[in-house]
Amino acid sequence: MEQQKMKEAAGKAAVDALVKSGMKLGLGTGSTAIHVIYRVGELLREGKLQNIRAFPTSFQSQIACEKLGIPAFALNAPELGGTLDLCIDGADEIDRENRLIKGGGGALLIEKLAAYNSAAYAIVADETKAVENLGLSFPVPVEVIPEARIPAVLALEKLGALVQLREAVRKAGPVITEHGNLLLDIRFQEPVNPGTLEAELNRIPGVVENGFFTENRPVAYIARGDGTVEVRA
Ligand code: 5RP
Repeated sequence: MEQQKMKEAAGKAAVDALVKSGMKLGLGTGSTAIHVIYRVGELLREGKLQNIRAFPTSFQSQIACEKLGIPAFALNAPELGGTLDLCIDGADEIDRENRLIKGGGGALLIEKLAAYNSAAYAIVADETKAVENLGLSFPVPVEVIPEARIPAVLALEKLGALVQLREAVRKAGPVITEHGNLLLDIRFQEPVNPGTLEAELNRIPGVVENGFFTENRPVAYIARGDGTVEVRA
């Protein structure tokens, strides 16, 4: 099965198993999470789901909700009241303990807000995202305010990271996040402790958030090339 089909299969399996009418639902970002949004839109249109209050985690998911007629709200709006029943998102890497790297699409700040304020959390991924150790191949994004660009690089290098400022495509210069910040993509050459690092990275002045997601462990829907979807709690 090709990768696009795997992404679609994971998204559909998670929605069909987990999403119920009346839910406050966090909707993730990326080429896998978009299939979750498509499926929710389809079930609403068919009348099989009702009264979904969605929280989109990026412009991408917000625009998709608008196009599909999925009612979307700010997390602070009275309709959501700051909490979610379920959040379904994609991931860049997932280890055997269902710890994650996220933020390949640059939406980690709001994705973590959704993930950590949701009673239930699910990840949809194809099998290429499953790894033994986080951070050795896919870089961990660290979102920093523009004023912290150089000092944050120095602090990250002190922790042993190789650091690269994320460059934009079809715009000269760096990526500017949806919150006006920069992204420093960091790599490690030795296995690291993602839980410890998640907290440590956020203690660097000027760091807004980082792409290790270790606290609200998700159930993972991992699509395989043979057409099956493994559900890993
Ligand atoms: C965006 C993310 C995405 O969920 C992650 O990058 C996976 O994306 P894709 O499903 O396109 O591989 O964290 O910030």
